[in-house]
Formats: sequence, structure tokens, C-alpha cells
Amino acid sequence: MRPLVFITGASSGIGQALALRYYKAGWRLALAARRVPEMQAWLAAQGIQSDQAICYSADVNNADSIIVAASLCIAEQGVPDVVIANAGISIGMDTRVRDDLEVMAQVMQTNVMGMAATFHPFVKPMQERANANPAASAGTLVGIASVAGIRGMPGHAAYCASKAAAISYCESLRGELKPQGFKVVTLAPGYIKTPLTQKNKFPMPFLMTADTFADEAFKTIERGISFRVIPSPMAWVARVLRVLPDVLFDHAFKNAPRKHRSVE
Ligand SMILES: NC(=O)c1ccc[n+]([C@@H]2O[C@H](COP(=O)([O-])OP(=O)(O)OC[C@H]3O[C@@H](n4cnc5c(N)ncnc54)[C@H](OP(=O)(O)O)[C@@H]3O)[C@@H](O)[C@H]2O)c1
Repeated sequence: MRPLVFITGASSGIGQALALRYYKAGWRLALAARRVPEMQAWLAAQGIQSDQAICYSADVNNADSIIVAASLCIAEQGVPDVVIANAGISIGMDTRVRDDLEVMAQVMQTNVMGMAATFHPFVKPMQERANANPAASAGTLVGIASVAGIRGMPGHAAYCASKAAAISYCESLRGELKPQGFKVVTLAPGYIKTPLTQKNKFPMPFLMTADTFADEAFKTIERGISFRVIPSPMAWVARVLRVLPDVLFDHAFKNAPRKHRSVE
């Protein structure tokens, strides 16, 4: 039986590119997002047959919705070998504006709680499968974080906070689930050309296509690397950012452009 990957946010950008990369490597696809017609149209355009891929309607902001999608996936296709929590949003906020508190809550809900809600329904079935066959690993959980989670960039408060939380959450999970035979991989994309970055009005260094990102991500997940920034030049930037003293970091980013707010 071909291995199975479950991907959230598969109706667009990175999720779609990951789906194609896994399909080309011979995997079956379980694709989840709110826009099911987009996913179905994409599968048809790629010529991917229904015995190789099934789409599930899921809103990661609603735990019950993703639990139902996971149950359907397990019933129809089996327990996945890899689960990729990729669904995410990026919206700017201004802490002075009351309505923007809701924006921040929405970003945290989707990017952090949505990730936990995606992993939740698969952990027990993946573990039970491993218990039944101790020679096999439980599988791999992949969190799509961001290089924005490394430091708090001025003007990107909600997104940076959400991705920093996603990185820490995945790191905790990695230690928690290792004894049960899981691998947890955290991927931190730099700037990737997708609808999410299309509206950015600022320069995006080392901008990479989603297909190139997916290729790098696939290899990283296959090797079970715990944390990786993609692309490599951005990984060097991230290493420097991590150790940069606050005074230098603040100076370097004092004129950084802010992420546009939902009303802008
Ligand atoms: N592009 C970049 O430069 C970049 C950099 C760093 C990190 N990332 C991260 O990579 C991931 C994918 O981003 P992308 O660039 O591919 O963005 P995108 O093209 O806008 O795609 C976002 C995907 O997330 C899904 N999604 C959003 N909210 C959802 C919800 N409540 N429930 C289910 N699915 C939801 C969307 O599907 P529906 O609308 O159909 O539900 C869509 O498929 C995100 O986590 C993002 O933060 C991207």
C-alpha cells in the first residue's frame, strides 16, 4: 500500500505544492481545507484519480470539524504516515485598535490552536498502529511555522507571536511523543511565493517558489530533521537573528515595513 499524507491548507500555496510533491513521490493524498471545490478542481487539473487522493472539508478553527475530517480520512484511506499542519493566515494588527484584538485572536486560533487540533485526532490512531507493529514508527507530525517565529518583528506582532508559539508547541510535542515512536518536524519557511505573500508591499529577500519549497520540505521530512528554515540563505539570517542583542535587533528593524491590516 502506498504511504498516506494528510495536509491541511491544501487548497492553495504551500499546501498544494506539498500535495504535488508527495504525489510525485508515490504517496496517496488526504487533503483538507475549507474550499473543497478548489482542491477538487486542482486534483482534476493534475489528473490525480480519486483512488489516490480524497478531499476533506475542514476548518482548523473548529476542532470538531477537523476531528470529523480525520475520522473520515482514517475510515476511507487509513491512518496517515505523515500529518502536515500547514493551514495558516497572516494579517497585520495595531494594538491601539480594539477590533484588531479580534484579528490577533483569529491569527493565534488558526496558526496555533489549528495546528494542535490537526494533530490531535491522529496521535492515538498512529500510536495504536505502531503498538500493533513495534518494528514500525508511529509516523511524522509536521508543523509549518515561519522564520517570523524566530524574533518579534515590529509591525508583525500577531503573526510573529503565533509562529513563535507554533515553534515552541512543536518542540514540546517532539519530546513528548518521541518515546511513542513519533517524529515531529518543524519547518520555518522564509518568503515563499503564494497568495499569502502576494499582497506584501515590502521586499521579500530570498523569495522561493512553492514548488521549490515543497521539494526541500519533502526531503527534510523524509530525513526526520527536527527543525529547518527553508531556504538555506534565510536559515543563516535566522541563526544571526537568534543571537542578535536586542539593541542591535531593534536598530536593524526600526524602519521595518508593517504587515497590512485587514482593513488596509
Ligand atoms: N508564503 C510564505 O512566505 C510563508 C512563509 C512562512 C510561513 N508560511 C506558512 O505556510 C502556511 C501556508 O501558507 P501559504 O503561503 O501557502 O498561504 P495560502 O496560499 O494563503 O494558503 C493558506 C491555506 O490555509 C488554509 N486555511 C486558512 N485558514 C484555514 C482554516 N481556518 N481552516 C482550514 N484551512 C485554512 C487555506 O485554505 P481554505 O481557505 O480553503 O480553508 C489555504 O489552503 C501557513 O501556515 C503560513 O503561515 C508561509
